[in-house]
Amino acid sequence: MCGIVGFTGKQQAAPLLLEGLKRLEYRGYDSAGIAVIGDAGIAVEKVSGRIDNLCEKTDNGKAIFGTTGIGHTRWATHGAPTDLNAHPHLSNDGRFAVVHNGIIENYAVLREELKAKGYRFLSETDTEVVVHLVEMFYDGDLKSAVLKTVSRLEGSYALGILCTDQPDTLFVAREHSPLILGVGVGENYFASDVTALVSYTKNAIYMDDGEIAELTPQGITVYDCRGREVEKPVSRITWDVEAAEKGGYDHFMLKEIMEQPQAVQAALTPRIRGKDIVLDDFELTAEDLRNIDKIVITACGSAYYAGCAGKYAIEEFCRIPVSVELASELRYGNPIIDEHTLLIVVSQSGETADTIAALKECQRLGAKSVAIVNVVGSTIAKLADHTLYTWAGPEIAVATTKGYTTQLAVLYLFALYAARKLGRLEDAAYEALLDEVLSLPQKMQQAIDKNHALPALAKKIHTFHSLFFIGRNTDWAVALEAALKMKEISYIHAESYAAGELKHGTIALIDEGQSVIAVCCNERLLDKTVSNILEMKARGAKVIAVAFQGERRVIAQADDIISIPHIEPIFSPALAVVPLQLLAYYVARENGCDIDKPKNLAKSVTVE
Ligand code: G6P
Repeated sequence: MCGIVGFTGKQQAAPLLLEGLKRLEYRGYDSAGIAVIGDAGIAVEKVSGRIDNLCEKTDNGKAIFGTTGIGHTRWATHGAPTDLNAHPHLSNDGRFAVVHNGIIENYAVLREELKAKGYRFLSETDTEVVVHLVEMFYDGDLKSAVLKTVSRLEGSYALGILCTDQPDTLFVAREHSPLILGVGVGENYFASDVTALVSYTKNAIYMDDGEIAELTPQGITVYDCRGREVEKPVSRITWDVEAAEKGGYDHFMLKEIMEQPQAVQAALTPRIRGKDIVLDDFELTAEDLRNIDKIVITACGSAYYAGCAGKYAIEEFCRIPVSVELASELRYGNPIIDEHTLLIVVSQSGETADTIAALKECQRLGAKSVAIVNVVGSTIAKLADHTLYTWAGPEIAVATTKGYTTQLAVLYLFALYAARKLGRLEDAAYEALLDEVLSLPQKMQQAIDKNHALPALAKKIHTFHSLFFIGRNTDWAVALEAALKMKEISYIHAESYAAGELKHGTIALIDEGQSVIAVCCNERLLDKTVSNILEMKARGAKVIAVAFQGERRVIAQADDIISIPHIEPIFSPALAVVPLQLLAYYVARENGCDIDKPKNLAKSVTVE
């Protein structure tokens, strides 16, 4: 989704803005632009396509002079990804420039109003109304013009605004869209994402909804929606630049897959004291938990599939009913939720628009909420009653990997924590299960190290037009995520099916040579899944099976085996998914796909 950056200081702004935009590339975009205040007013350059085109057009920024500027990567919503629709947008008098993340929902009404007043629109974007409003309200006081402008806006926005009358000043505003201010020495920054800031400063101010801020090289002042100064804490960013770079891997996705053992370790270790699980800064007492009659997990994409896998552990250990709901459905579904519902919101970015809306709706209905989030200070982390961070570090590839497995690790800890508080697990069983969860990092490493044949397996299947992923129970949850990975990055149609459902439809599509990937780690249901494998084979399919090392029932039937170390099956999704992420990666590589930035996808889906 769109990304914004801004800089004011003594250095030339354009090269820094381009550098910042490159760090936001991973979010997904289709055009980019920068605006810098120079001696002759505001210089704007924008292009459709890659930031490299913008670098070429501006000699890597050296062709544009000025020390204050704003930049934008656009992921088209209103209007095609053309040069004209790219941001920044200029006011008719050329004195103001604006970049915007989010959607102005009442833009059509504002556009008509502004047109009637004589403002000319050059783009089809919702954003352009903002710059004309600023021009309309400006009477020499930029702060007041910004406040009046945002008071007219409905929807979501993170805005960066330039004005030639204050050539070393940036104004920003936030409503339902991430915005972080970077505090430097003699220079200051803003960005929609900390990854664009980490190479310049580790000191950050997280803006809240309804706030605006004024940045000059000398300082930052934040105001509330009525223009009163707000004291904001300066937080320390813990991510470093290396963590946001490829570190010798061909792709961020491969690096992030390989980082999973360390990432899961980082999610688990700080929460273990002896045999106890300690939640971060809060506690759910036995009484709190007894007051809960159901748990609802809500999320989007892979985070939703993490919820699907986590449900089995929570229900099994806590014996509390769990429903897993797509946030985009839950928010409009008139859900049956009250103060006896515990809502678990799962999100890597903490900024997914549907997930935020579902959280707010459930809070309105009285639910208590716990968020499982990676990005510190993100909107969901701030909104939820309690937050459990996944501590996965920056995830750059659009298709999540370590984000997903760390979500699972935290869900497993939560399940054991709650079950123990409720007295639903004997000490010995609890301790044995905890040991299994804690064995995950080491076993994930083995699952990575021992599967040398995955590139060769990818060569066998990369030309297929469609792949089926099957499994039962926890294995089905893995199949869902594995199929999503495959389609996201390799563009091969991949469908996942609960193995027991095959006879109700999908089997009609199984022909000679069709490839089926069967996840076979749920030992309790293995004979059933093996029967499904036989049914596939009887119709000519080739079966690749994921199974525990030495699992003869599967080895005897599958055409190819991907083996993983043994673990308590209920935790196997976090392990079984790893070689399947790698398989998707190698298939996409065979097909020459843009693995880190798949077409049409965005890392952080901040619009509905
Ligand atoms: C996008 C990403 C997915 C992610 C989903 C939910 O679709 O490409 O990888 O699972 O958003 O994102 P969240 O940040 O809420 O986990």
